[in-house]
Amino acid sequence: MAMTYSEKVMEHFRNPRNVGKLEDANGVGEVGNAVCGDIMKMYLKVKDGIIEDVKFNTFGCGSAIATSSMATELIKGQPVGDALKLTNKAVVEALGGLPPVKIHCSVLAEEAVKAALKDYYERQGLPVPEECLVEEHDEHEGCGCSL
Ligand code: FES
Repeated sequence: MAMTYSEKVMEHFRNPRNVGKLEDANGVGEVGNAVCGDIMKMYLKVKDGIIEDVKFNTFGCGSAIATSSMATELIKGQPVGDALKLTNKAVVEALGGLPPVKIHCSVLAEEAVKAALKDYYERQGLPVPEECLVEEHDEHEGCGCSL
Protein backbone atom coordinates (compact mmCIF):
# COMPACT_ATOMS: atom_id res chain seq x y z
CA MET A 1 0.00 0.00 0.00
CA ALA A 2 1.44 3.35 -1.03
CA MET A 3 1.88 5.89 1.72
CA THR A 4 0.91 9.50 1.28
CA TYR A 5 3.17 12.13 2.75
CA SER A 6 2.40 15.81 3.13
CA GLU A 7 4.27 18.31 0.98
CA LYS A 8 6.03 19.54 4.11
CA VAL A 9 7.28 16.07 5.03
CA MET A 10 8.63 15.61 1.51
CA GLU A 11 10.24 19.05 1.60
CA HIS A 12 12.02 18.41 4.92
CA PHE A 13 13.06 14.97 3.72
CA ARG A 14 14.61 16.41 0.55
CA ASN A 15 16.13 19.48 2.22
CA PRO A 16 16.61 18.65 5.88
CA ARG A 17 17.50 21.67 8.03
CA ASN A 18 20.38 21.72 10.51
CA VAL A 19 22.08 18.52 9.42
CA GLY A 20 25.56 17.89 10.80
CA LYS A 21 27.52 17.96 13.98
CA LEU A 22 28.30 20.76 16.45
CA GLU A 23 31.87 20.58 17.68
CA ASP A 24 31.13 22.94 20.57
CA ALA A 25 27.84 21.35 21.60
CA ASN A 26 27.11 21.33 25.32
CA GLY A 27 24.30 18.83 25.06
CA VAL A 28 24.42 15.68 22.95
CA GLY A 29 21.87 12.91 22.79
CA GLU A 30 21.67 9.72 20.81
CA VAL A 31 18.66 7.48 20.60
CA GLY A 32 17.77 4.46 18.54
CA ASN A 33 14.81 2.32 17.72
CA ALA A 34 15.69 -1.29 18.39
CA VAL A 35 13.04 -2.57 16.01
CA CYS A 36 13.86 -0.67 12.81
CA GLY A 37 17.49 0.01 13.75
CA ASP A 38 17.28 3.74 13.02
CA ILE A 39 19.55 6.05 14.99
CA MET A 40 19.30 9.78 15.68
CA LYS A 41 21.94 12.00 17.19
CA MET A 42 21.15 15.54 18.34
CA TYR A 43 23.64 18.30 19.23
CA LEU A 44 22.66 21.42 21.19
CA LYS A 45 24.58 24.57 21.88
CA VAL A 46 22.94 26.34 24.77
CA LYS A 47 23.93 29.79 25.94
CA ASP A 48 22.23 31.73 28.71
CA GLY A 49 19.39 29.22 28.69
CA ILE A 50 18.69 29.66 24.96
CA ILE A 51 19.30 27.01 22.30
CA GLU A 52 21.59 29.03 20.08
CA ASP A 53 22.31 26.25 17.65
CA VAL A 54 21.20 22.71 17.00
CA LYS A 55 22.27 20.05 14.53
CA PHE A 56 21.37 16.44 13.97
CA ASN A 57 22.42 13.31 12.19
CA THR A 58 19.86 10.66 11.43
CA PHE A 59 20.55 7.25 10.02
CA GLY A 60 17.04 6.26 9.28
CA CYS A 61 13.93 6.43 7.22
CA GLY A 62 12.57 9.49 5.42
CA SER A 63 10.12 10.25 8.21
CA ALA A 64 12.90 10.09 10.79
CA ILE A 65 14.86 12.63 8.74
CA ALA A 66 11.85 14.91 8.22
CA THR A 67 10.81 14.79 11.89
CA SER A 68 14.29 15.45 13.22
CA SER A 69 14.65 18.35 10.77
CA MET A 70 11.36 19.86 11.93
CA ALA A 71 12.22 19.22 15.60
CA THR A 72 15.44 21.25 15.22
CA GLU A 73 13.49 24.07 13.56
CA LEU A 74 10.99 24.12 16.42
CA ILE A 75 13.60 24.37 19.19
CA LYS A 76 16.26 26.57 17.57
CA GLY A 77 16.41 29.97 19.27
CA GLN A 78 14.04 28.80 22.02
CA PRO A 79 14.64 28.70 25.78
CA VAL A 80 15.57 25.23 27.04
CA GLY A 81 12.39 25.25 29.14
CA ASP A 82 10.30 25.47 25.96
CA ALA A 83 12.31 22.75 24.20
CA LEU A 84 11.58 20.48 27.15
CA LYS A 85 7.90 20.71 26.28
CA LEU A 86 8.42 19.60 22.67
CA THR A 87 6.23 16.63 21.85
CA ASN A 88 6.25 14.30 18.87
CA LYS A 89 2.64 15.41 18.33
CA ALA A 90 3.76 19.03 17.84
CA VAL A 91 6.41 17.87 15.36
CA VAL A 92 3.85 15.81 13.42
CA GLU A 93 1.40 18.73 13.37
CA ALA A 94 4.07 21.13 12.13
CA LEU A 95 4.76 18.70 9.30
CA GLY A 96 1.11 18.55 8.30
CA GLY A 97 0.70 14.99 9.57
CA LEU A 98 2.33 11.60 9.09
CA PRO A 99 0.90 8.23 8.11
CA PRO A 100 -0.02 6.28 11.30
CA VAL A 101 2.67 3.65 10.69
CA LYS A 102 5.27 6.43 10.74
CA ILE A 103 4.29 8.12 13.99
CA HIS A 104 6.95 6.16 15.86
CA CYS A 105 9.61 7.94 13.79
CA SER A 106 8.48 11.24 15.30
CA VAL A 107 8.77 9.70 18.76
CA LEU A 108 12.43 9.12 18.00
CA ALA A 109 12.84 12.85 17.18
CA GLU A 110 11.27 13.86 20.50
CA GLU A 111 13.47 11.38 22.36
CA ALA A 112 16.62 12.69 20.66
CA VAL A 113 15.84 16.27 21.75
CA LYS A 114 15.09 15.13 25.31
CA ALA A 115 18.27 13.02 25.46
CA ALA A 116 20.37 16.02 24.36
CA LEU A 117 18.66 18.24 26.95
CA LYS A 118 19.27 15.62 29.64
CA ASP A 119 22.98 15.64 28.75
CA TYR A 120 22.97 19.45 28.87
CA TYR A 121 21.48 19.52 32.39
CA GLU A 122 23.89 16.84 33.59
CA ARG A 123 26.92 18.72 32.21
CA GLN A 124 25.76 21.85 33.98
CA GLY A 125 25.46 19.91 37.24
CA LEU A 126 21.77 20.79 37.35
CA PRO A 127 18.94 18.46 38.32
CA VAL A 128 17.51 16.75 35.25
CA PRO A 129 13.88 17.83 34.71
CA GLU A 130 11.48 14.93 34.57
CA GLU A 131 10.42 15.88 31.01
CA CYS A 132 13.84 14.59 29.88
CA LEU A 133 13.24 11.19 31.34
CA VAL A 134 11.29 9.75 28.43
CA GLU A 135 9.98 6.37 29.36
CA GLU A 136 11.25 3.41 27.44
CA HIS A 137 8.40 2.13 25.37
CA ASP A 138 7.74 0.04 22.36
CA GLU A 139 6.96 2.59 19.67
CA HIS A 140 5.86 -0.11 17.30
CA GLU A 141 3.15 -1.42 19.55
CA GLY A 142 -0.07 -1.08 17.65
CA CYS A 143 1.38 1.11 14.92
CA GLY A 144 0.97 -1.55 12.27
CA CYS A 145 4.52 -1.04 11.05
CA SER A 146 5.81 -4.06 9.20
CA LEU A 147 9.41 -3.47 10.27
FE1 FES B 1 12.63 3.70 12.01
FE2 FES B 1 11.17 5.52 10.86
S1 FES B 1 12.42 5.74 12.59
S2 FES B 1 11.21 3.42 10.40
